[in-house]
Amino acid sequence: MRILGIETSCDETSAAIVDDGSTVLSNVVASQIPVHQRFGGVVPEIASRQHVLAISEVTDEALREAGTSVSHIDAVAVTSGPGLSGALLVGINFAKGVAMASDLELIQVNHIEGHLLSVWLAVSPEYGASPELPMVSLVASGGHTQLVLVEKPARYQILGATKDDAAGEAFDKVGRLLGLPYPGGPSIERAAAECDGGQSVPRLPRAWLPESYDFSFSGLKTAVVRAVRDIEQSGSLSVGAANCLAREFQESVADVLTRKLAQAVEESEAASAAIVGGVANNSFVREMARQRLSVPLYVPPEGLSSDNAAMIAGAAYWHRTRASYALDAAPSLSLPS
Ligand code: KG4
Ligand code: ZN
Repeated sequence: MRILGIETSCDETSAAIVDDGSTVLSNVVASQIPVHQRFGGVVPEIASRQHVLAISEVTDEALREAGTSVSHIDAVAVTSGPGLSGALLVGINFAKGVAMASDLELIQVNHIEGHLLSVWLAVSPEYGASPELPMVSLVASGGHTQLVLVEKPARYQILGATKDDAAGEAFDKVGRLLGLPYPGGPSIERAAAECDGGQSVPRLPRAWLPESYDFSFSGLKTAVVRAVRDIEQSGSLSVGAANCLAREFQESVADVLTRKLAQAVEESEAASAAIVGGVANNSFVREMARQRLSVPLYVPPEGLSSDNAAMIAGAAYWHRTRASYALDAAPSLSLPS
């Protein structure tokens, strides 16, 4: 089954063609990061407008790259939520138009489920077969941080979630505090690698929230605010000190995320683990998880951790939820269970 996927829930306009939930024929992503960068975060109205400008061309390019055309597509899948309402509507309306014009099935996909099932995507045959189930997956993105028990596609149990900021959001906010470019995640990872250890910066706290798989990152953010203020009282924040604070912060987030992931795997006797969402790009987080886990760790193939339409076209195959032309945006859609 060949599916055209459309994703516009936040700041990436993306279209992809995926065969049978795993073979990615194309995945085109028009990132709006440069447009939002000067505001230090995503501006919803600008995001919607950029999606309108890009969606048609991005879809044409996805079809061209896959060497196919709409007449060879079996269904159109679109993210219906969660996400920014105006941004979601651009993708939904575009997908409806394509489905209507070519008399194709319209499938609605939950964005978080797209991330969860992104480890089923194989961009190359060497990537391997389907992951062993049940799996505990850590969804860590700019909008969400959840530990989810995946019994099989479409059957999920949320084990824990963040009480305040999402992990990626914490990276973005701390990046801003340290004067690093948006988005904070990749900037902090790069800065942390530059810390030469010669700077004395305070050790940052970990919010363990015992007896629970929930997370909290707001106390950590406040600790960074305090550390920056203390350093600035005796001069300005040097690049060296910012790099080492970035490393401390990354270590604190990785420590909590991976310890809880490993605990959840053990307690639920899961056969595998996964990290998905933008934070899965972080190689320090991945490495720490690998060291702590006693089961295989799956991460999405290169380029498919951050928002993309391949994961939407993939998820639509594994969990086929037919939508009508009355489909509306669901900004706070929760994961099906
Ligand atoms: O999944 P995603 O592309 O969009 C959402 O659904 O939110 O995730 C974006 C988030 C941003 O907060 C970004 O800072 C974070 O993922 N991120 C990273 C890295 N690359 C992206 N966080 C830590 N380390 C990275 N290398
Ligand atoms: Zn996402």
